[in-house]
Amino acid sequence: MKRALVTGGAGLIGSHVVDLLISEGWKVRVLDNLEPNTHKRGKPAWINDKAEFVEGNLCNRDTITAALDRIDIVFHQAAYGGYMPEIAKFVHVNSFGTAQMLELIRERNLPIKKIVVASSQAVYSEGAGNCPKHGLVFPSVRPIEQLQRGDWEVHCPVCGAITRSLPTPENAPVGGETVYGLTKVDQEKLVLLWGKQVGIPTVALRYSCTYGPRQSIFNPYTGVIAIFCTRLLNNLAPMLYEDGKQTRDFSFVEDVARANLLAAETGKLDGLAVNIGSGKGTPIYEIAELLSDVLKIDTAAEINGQFRPGEMRYLTSDMTLAESAGYRPTVGLSEGIARYIDWIRTQSDIRDYFSEASEILKNKGIVHRVAR
Ligand SMILES: NC(=O)c1ccc[n+]([C@@H]2O[C@H](COP(=O)([O-])OP(=O)(O)OC[C@H]3O[C@@H](n4cnc5c(N)ncnc54)[C@H](O)[C@@H]3O)[C@@H](O)[C@H]2O)c1
Ligand SMILES: [Zn+2]
Repeated sequence: MKRALVTGGAGLIGSHVVDLLISEGWKVRVLDNLEPNTHKRGKPAWINDKAEFVEGNLCNRDTITAALDRIDIVFHQAAYGGYMPEIAKFVHVNSFGTAQMLELIRERNLPIKKIVVASSQAVYSEGAGNCPKHGLVFPSVRPIEQLQRGDWEVHCPVCGAITRSLPTPENAPVGGETVYGLTKVDQEKLVLLWGKQVGIPTVALRYSCTYGPRQSIFNPYTGVIAIFCTRLLNNLAPMLYEDGKQTRDFSFVEDVARANLLAAETGKLDGLAVNIGSGKGTPIYEIAELLSDVLKIDTAAEINGQFRPGEMRYLTSDMTLAESAGYRPTVGLSEGIARYIDWIRTQSDIRDYFSEASEILKNKGIVHRVAR
């Protein structure tokens, strides 16, 4: 029987990884500190009772050492993804927490056979583009002056022409344009480089926007589907940044859980950073429309010239590598959204936590408005 540690196993992705592993006959331990931003009501009922649950902080040396005892495979999902101005906390939990875990595995010579780490498409600066003149290009983040003029397009880094979005392959430059993105680069690089040094197979999965049942309805920095959904259920308009035509690639959480199992079991992805998405880009305004259709709440989305510097315009995952290892997403957007809404209807007290956060972000200068 294989023994897994799932860090962050109370969260959206981690808890589905836990369920899948248990259904496949694994013995599973969860380490999660029940981050209050995400788990306002304490320990969620969905934590699988066949898993051993350890409430504790990844960053605590003794806690993580004990959690790694008699483990074969680590699925490292824990990360801070909350209040954006808390930059030290991002670095502490995501970068330091990961580095310390690796150091301890080495120091104690623990017989870990593989580490699968949750990375993110946030490691890219901007999605790949096609320039009419230069073909495939990797534009960098759009300058703030451009966004202030209300020019949302992505221009060719060589000639300035408007590019057309292309699926982004793993060899696109990574940098991270937000502190969160930066710490996801740290996490994947630390794990992959360290794995090569010590000879332990490691895989970094660059998830696209992941959604589904159990996505925190409390954390206002959670995904766009959860935010729009709670807005609509409070009869508030979803707020679209820019012109709403920016695209994202969406993954249903059960597919992402399957990607984790695949990464653990195949050798084909060892040592690699791998996109895990759907391969399709969906404009954000379509998400708002889809949600109001399914919810039957006819509140039109609002566009008021706001934007967040550092955000990508178009991002679709190139899925060639994951598919070559046998990964196939199985739940499409309409089915996934319907299943998410079935779940959210069972949740009580769906307050709109976004408005408050949005005010704070404006005051802290994280959300800007066009200068027109
Ligand atoms: N959801 C997405 O769209 C998405 C996209 C790309 C990458 N990711 C990454 O996937 C992973 C899982 O994300 P999620 O969407 O399930 O988020 P989530 O917030 O639902 O789950 C994260 C879990 O980690 C726990 N945690 C946070 N800090 C911890 C600490 N110091 N010690 C122990 N546990 C801690 C939280 O309590 C939470 O249960 C994260 O690494 C995230 O960066 C998520
Ligand atoms: Zn060009």
